[in-house]
Amino acid sequence: MGENRVIRVMISSKANINLEKLPHHIAIIMDGNGRWAKKRGKFRVFGHENGVKAVRNTVEASAELGIEALTLYAFSTENWKRPQKEVDRLMGLLVSSLNNELKTFIKNDIKLCAIGNLEQLPEKTLKTLKKVIEATKDHKKMTLSLALNYGSRDEIINVVKNIANKVKNNIINTEDIDQVIINKHLYTQNLPDVDLLIRTSGEQRISNFLLWQIAYAEIVFTEVLWPDFKKEDLYNAIIDYQNRERRFGKTSEQLK
Ligand code: FPP
Repeated sequence: MGENRVIRVMISSKANINLEKLPHHIAIIMDGNGRWAKKRGKFRVFGHENGVKAVRNTVEASAELGIEALTLYAFSTENWKRPQKEVDRLMGLLVSSLNNELKTFIKNDIKLCAIGNLEQLPEKTLKTLKKVIEATKDHKKMTLSLALNYGSRDEIINVVKNIANKVKNNIINTEDIDQVIINKHLYTQNLPDVDLLIRTSGEQRISNFLLWQIAYAEIVFTEVLWPDFKKEDLYNAIIDYQNRERRFGKTSEQLK
């Protein structure tokens, strides 16, 4: 007797990615953890806990593809306003994730960096962060930057203060201030500009993230809530990016 079996073959979009045209730097606003948990009748922290899996998948997929830099918005300067329990859980998740992932970073030649006002982080988080940054500082394959206690306007205020001090002390001439000098004073000084910015959960805003660095980024908004974000979602965002015409102010004809 014949058995009717449906064989589902999952075809990955990965094969459709042009490896010659990869974005150098991908930045992600990981959003929707709270809603993901609420949909399941759980507390918000359950969403963050499941968000960690999406972080792992995204880091792995980016490194496998050969992306140079991946920056994740993990905690903003505004996130301190959340309930203390949620803030504590997020900080705890960071500590456990960093400890758990250190061996993966070593195996995959991933360098961990952090951007933001780090000194205000809880002692344990900062200590773990510094340990993993130090242990991975010579790695070359991919730079993974975590934005922690990060706010782009604060970053720009710091840049202005630092440059103003250097002008006052005759280290920099006002006339010499240009994009290169500003780039050198940003937290992201060693990273290329962001080529692709992804925000999950259907929200369509930038939320004080890398305002200077995304000047020419292509932006992909996806409805997927962060804990559901899979490697395929990253591949699809990259394919979307690769199908756009990046003109940097030029005309289409000039590009041809
Ligand atoms: C936004 O969802 C998510 C965050 C503020 C935190 C992201 C943190 C993680 C994914 C876990 C730990 C991170 C690392 C790097 C290991 P939301 O809470 O704003 O969701 P909502 O908009 O649905 O309320």
